Amino acid sequence: METRSQWGTRAGFILAAVGSAVGLGNIWRFPTVAYENGGGAFFIPYLFALLTAGIPILIMEFTMGHKYRGSAPLTFKRMNKNTEFIGWWAVLVAFVISTYYSVIIAWAMSYSVFSFNLNWGSDTEGFLFGEYLNLTVDPGQTGSFVPGVLIPLILVWAIVLGVLFKGVKKGIEVANRIFIPALVIVFLIIVVRALTLPGALDGLNAFFAPDFSKIASPDVWVAAYGQIFFSLSIAFAIMITYSSYLPKKSDITNNAFIVGFGNSSFELLAGIGVFAALGFMAGQVGVGVDEVVAGGVGLAFVVFPEIINQFPGLNGLFGFLFFASLVLAGLSSLISICETYIAGLVDKFKISRIKAVAFGGGLSALISLLFATQGGLFFLDAADYFINQFGVAFVGLVEVVLVAWVLRKVKDLRTHANDLSDIRLNWWWTLSLCVFTPVVLGYMMFGLFKQNLLREFATDTGNYENYSNAFILWGGWAVAAGALLIGILMTFTKWKQSATEEQEALTKEAK
Ligand code: ALA
Repeated sequence: METRSQWGTRAGFILAAVGSAVGLGNIWRFPTVAYENGGGAFFIPYLFALLTAGIPILIMEFTMGHKYRGSAPLTFKRMNKNTEFIGWWAVLVAFVISTYYSVIIAWAMSYSVFSFNLNWGSDTEGFLFGEYLNLTVDPGQTGSFVPGVLIPLILVWAIVLGVLFKGVKKGIEVANRIFIPALVIVFLIIVVRALTLPGALDGLNAFFAPDFSKIASPDVWVAAYGQIFFSLSIAFAIMITYSSYLPKKSDITNNAFIVGFGNSSFELLAGIGVFAALGFMAGQVGVGVDEVVAGGVGLAFVVFPEIINQFPGLNGLFGFLFFASLVLAGLSSLISICETYIAGLVDKFKISRIKAVAFGGGLSALISLLFATQGGLFFLDAADYFINQFGVAFVGLVEVVLVAWVLRKVKDLRTHANDLSDIRLNWWWTLSLCVFTPVVLGYMMFGLFKQNLLREFATDTGNYENYSNAFILWGGWAVAAGALLIGILMTFTKWKQSATEEQEALTKEAK
């Protein structure tokens, strides 16, 4: 008997998958990554990564979730009993991400309120690190809670857990039906307004100006792959989980293309909006666009408030809309990130959804409190850097190598997807999974391990310059290795499912 939750409609599934993909990564990460890695020329490695890794892996994960109808651990277990660990590893990576992703949404919530009175004043950097985050302790120390972060954080968790409690169709699907159209409308208003500002064209020129010399550098390709993985929500258990809720007769390949191109279109739109606004600000201050660009935290919470300060008329409203778009994009992604471990717990321990949400979501919420302390940003930076490099990208590599080379499932999955989909998979998909992705990701991981194990800790965001290497290295490694280790340990706990039940499921799938 099929008791697994299901999406109500195809549009519901697509909206939820797009909602997962479109997140903080699109708005605050992509524009700067593209600019710093060759501008217009970055689109070459970016498109290559999208077409040879992003969309092929998305199709692979959709097919796996649909065929094996389980959370990531159950899907991998059904594929081969020895590969359950990779499902848990991906789930634990998602778990770590959920603990700090929620905090960034909380900041955006506070800033959407601050926008109306421009509370940050003229020294936006001083305001963020001083008054708002109260970052007055050394890296590695927590200090006390910061109420300005703690209160919106509780609100974020209340919304996310509330949606998750309600289930797949009534909770996740409904929330995305509201969040995603709202996000698109709000974001289009921001982009159109930014494009009509004086100086917008200079910003766009800076963004799109191609620097072809850059694309010879392996770092630029690493950046393109990293961006595609995080942004498309692949290799952290999400897309497997979401597609496990698809009805039996569902298109797979076409859905993956819609989600992949939808996500990249949003990313491009964000780049255009952000750089138009940066061009405006550079013009107001009388400096070049290169002097006002910042990445991540700096872009959203230091540079954007400055732009809002300079804004000609209705600046409070513009600021509110910008931060509200971060909140909407972030919430729909966070819901999907948490759903990975909720589904994993329900499948493995046969507990009710309510219990899984309370336990999994509750634990993540509890850990997220660490990032709402005075020293929270330091912990957040360390967790974010390591879990992205040695979590998402590494899981992606192991997952693809296992499926393509160890279990040799590519042909099976291809037949499964082709039987259901409008677009038929051909040699491009096989070549991408069996050759391109393992080679490029393998090379990338090798370089990253070498850099982090043998050399000084270094990142391209520059956030970490003043941190002690020991804190970042040990803390970061502990988080990244912990996800793998606990993932492996989880496979030793027993499945609360009778052997016959499992056998039945497998026979049914094989038919
Ligand atoms: N895909 C989500 C993002 O881009 C996680 O933020």
